[in-house]
Amino acid sequence: MSKNLTGFPESFLWGGAIAANQTEGAYLKDGKGLTTVDLLPIGEKRFPIMIGKLPSFSPLEGEFYPSHEAIDFYHRYKEDIALFAEMGFKTLRLSISWARIFPNGDEIEPNEAGLQFYDDLFDELKKYNIEPLVTLAHFDVPVHLVKEYGSWKNRKLISFFENYARTVFTRYKKKVKYWLTFNEINMLLHLPYIGAGLVFEEGEDEKQVKYQAAHHQLVASALAVKAGHEIIPDAKIGCMLAAGMTYPYSSNPNDVMDAMDKDRESFFFIDVQSRGEYPGYAKRFFLENDIELDMEENDEKILKENTVDYIGFSYYSSRVTSTDPKIQENTTSGNVFGSITNPYLEKSEWGWTIDPKGLRITANQLYDRYQKPLFVVENGLGAVDIPNEDGAVVDDYRIAYLREHLKEMKEAIRDGVDIIGYTSWGPIDIVSASTGEMKKRYGYIYVDRDNLGNGTLKRTKKKSFEWYKNIIQTNGKEL
Ligand code: BG6
Repeated sequence: MSKNLTGFPESFLWGGAIAANQTEGAYLKDGKGLTTVDLLPIGEKRFPIMIGKLPSFSPLEGEFYPSHEAIDFYHRYKEDIALFAEMGFKTLRLSISWARIFPNGDEIEPNEAGLQFYDDLFDELKKYNIEPLVTLAHFDVPVHLVKEYGSWKNRKLISFFENYARTVFTRYKKKVKYWLTFNEINMLLHLPYIGAGLVFEEGEDEKQVKYQAAHHQLVASALAVKAGHEIIPDAKIGCMLAAGMTYPYSSNPNDVMDAMDKDRESFFFIDVQSRGEYPGYAKRFFLENDIELDMEENDEKILKENTVDYIGFSYYSSRVTSTDPKIQENTTSGNVFGSITNPYLEKSEWGWTIDPKGLRITANQLYDRYQKPLFVVENGLGAVDIPNEDGAVVDDYRIAYLREHLKEMKEAIRDGVDIIGYTSWGPIDIVSASTGEMKKRYGYIYVDRDNLGNGTLKRTKKKSFEWYKNIIQTNGKEL
């Protein structure tokens, strides 16, 4: 027994997670191209675009696009990283915007200004010994690839993505060791435009299109793993799942089966990325749904030989399912995946179920299934913060949420699950991915900006700032 089952290992990577499009702003600066997320306004058009039902290829008059300025991290990252360092971050998860490196996505030569921006950013992190954890694709595809090629519907995207991955691996090989390929790859099934830039045409078979696009992403992910291992010998390259176990509402075997099927919709992706082959249940699903994947001869070999080193996942809530139509009426939202209301649990202001024990259960479930190190790369509470008359944000609700989740994560480690790090979502307030709001805040650092872009962008520490700092300092001993 070599494992220390008392809690967090000394090497545990504490930190926070952000994404380019929700943070950087400067959306066309220094040669960056337009990406899919730059076309998501706040308001009623957002959802139809996110699910691929409302085509949009350029910003519309009269709409407000939060990603265009976001929190201006592009110009303020030094100040923000200094604050992360003050909290003692060991790691910062961030994404590279594909369109900063290849503005159109299909060029051969990269945009030097884009490469230089991330070079400087990584140097800044290095100053404080903060290890970067980099996502290659966090919900953004260069819009040119959507217009000209149909985005991930088209097999050509694989080689464009591989070229992008090879370019950044080569450029940052001395600076970045931890990588993730696609953020929440299973989101493709729920928000196909966000996950894969998919826009559906009238009469198109959506299931067929989504799984074909998924196949292209899975092959692209495997080729990125291959390239990463070739270029950076000590690289750790992971996949990333929007996780959260599905509970059956009752002990009726039909509910239990349904819960298993719902989980498999998501596991499908990780089964391929981690085990290297399409699982039997997926083959049956394809057959019964008339889905025929167009594969090339080498695809299966590529998937088999280039599996991921670790499993990254986000955890916000568990979900509940039932086969009883009456029970099904009582639904709630939760990181886009619908769920039935769990009568035992509270919800956030956005209706997301709060289930700390679900994190322990999910981590155990993933570890039992894959037997690879896990990395909790997102978790947190989106809440309305109202500064008091002194301008201070006393976010005890956030501390309570995080504390309970950290306790359960510690329990999972004591269960024997190999968890290598934890990056809470949005350590500084950023734009919400699902709604585009600024009002839905996750941060330890408050940013003065509202849903319509008013505000000074000034950064202020919230009460949770000192709390998280102490967690890191004590390596989670003082929860
Ligand atoms: C995850 C995404 O789905 O959840 C993030 O990877 C996102 O990009 C996070 O921001 C929280 O969701 P939201 O909608 O509250 O921003």
